[in-house]
Amino acid sequence: MKPFIDLKSQYISIKDEIIKCINEILESSHYILGDNVKALEEEIKDYLQVKEAVGVASGTDALHLALKALNIGKGDEVITTPFTFFATVEAIIFVGAKPVFVDIEEKTYNIDPDKIEAKITPNTKAIIPVHIFGCPANMEKINSIANKYGLWVIEDAAQAFGATFNNKKVGSLGHVGCFSFYPSKNLGCYGDGGMIVTNNPELAEKIRILRNHGSPGKYIHKEIGLNSRLDEIQAGILRVKMKYVDKYNEMRRKKAELYNKYLNEVVIPPQEVKNSYHVYHLYCIRSKEREKIRETLKNHGIPSVIYYPVPMHLQPALEFLGYKPKDFPIAEDVSKEILALPFYPEIPEEEVFEISQIIRRCLKENS
Ligand SMILES: Cc1ncc(COP(=O)(O)O)c(C=O)c1O
Repeated sequence: MKPFIDLKSQYISIKDEIIKCINEILESSHYILGDNVKALEEEIKDYLQVKEAVGVASGTDALHLALKALNIGKGDEVITTPFTFFATVEAIIFVGAKPVFVDIEEKTYNIDPDKIEAKITPNTKAIIPVHIFGCPANMEKINSIANKYGLWVIEDAAQAFGATFNNKKVGSLGHVGCFSFYPSKNLGCYGDGGMIVTNNPELAEKIRILRNHGSPGKYIHKEIGLNSRLDEIQAGILRVKMKYVDKYNEMRRKKAELYNKYLNEVVIPPQEVKNSYHVYHLYCIRSKEREKIRETLKNHGIPSVIYYPVPMHLQPALEFLGYKPKDFPIAEDVSKEILALPFYPEIPEEEVFEISQIIRRCLKENS
């Protein structure tokens, strides 16, 4: 099988810098909340143009801690998309709040802002848009609804590091932005990691305390928190990769453009929206012939992955919320037709061509 994502080729290209940085951390023996976590927080503040950045243990914890720091919990409702990775919803449930879903847009697969207002109740406290697959959600409309009803906006920017909307980086557009540094993410480390960003210094201070057992200083605990610190070695690795993240995103965009060129007429390629910079965390096509494409690719030794086969409202673990099939028809249709093709910044152009040719041939045979 060819790789779906090849993390090794990128590692090889920056290996010397990575090894040097890890060695320096090992020599320093400063493993928890050391200079690299602090420096990365500064660099990310600068990159995203935000006032505060707090490194945490994962993207899931970033969402969880953001909700907790905003005092969202039992009795509260949080509006989000049913077309996301489970962690978005898990975090809402973990703090005791109720996820309330809103269907997605056909074009971007992001939450449809025009359907949000109908779901707002006196219990609604926040909206969590997810910039799915690296495509920015319509933050202008979402922020305007949130302002009107006094709601928090927490961006799940796990898949969209470096993406922009109206020339501003995602994560900096709502009240809080949450990032994941899971290895395959646009900015990924070599383990788990995450970051919370905000322009609200008090909120950042609260999150800083919460990520470290609710402790502002040694063995004094103001709150019940978590052990959710960003690992020092991962922070060092991320600092090396930060230098290249714009280049990697550009490489993703070029490869996406190439796939688009070859596949445009035969499948629905990912769509870009006006005033936004899509960073293609994944390259997902949509086709009624998905199963046939998938099977044909597999027979040629080419992997493909379905993100996501079951929308959140139909997940077994969320049955207690009482949703049923057809509640969110667009998310359900997309789940039946979406397919992610092999994709990473370094994917050879010949491979993009070869995969596209196989798909074109398979669909031609089918017609
Ligand atoms: C949309 C979304 N939200 C949240 C997360 C959770 O991030 P992590 O895996 O770092 O906990 C992910 C990562 O997979 C994600 O894709």
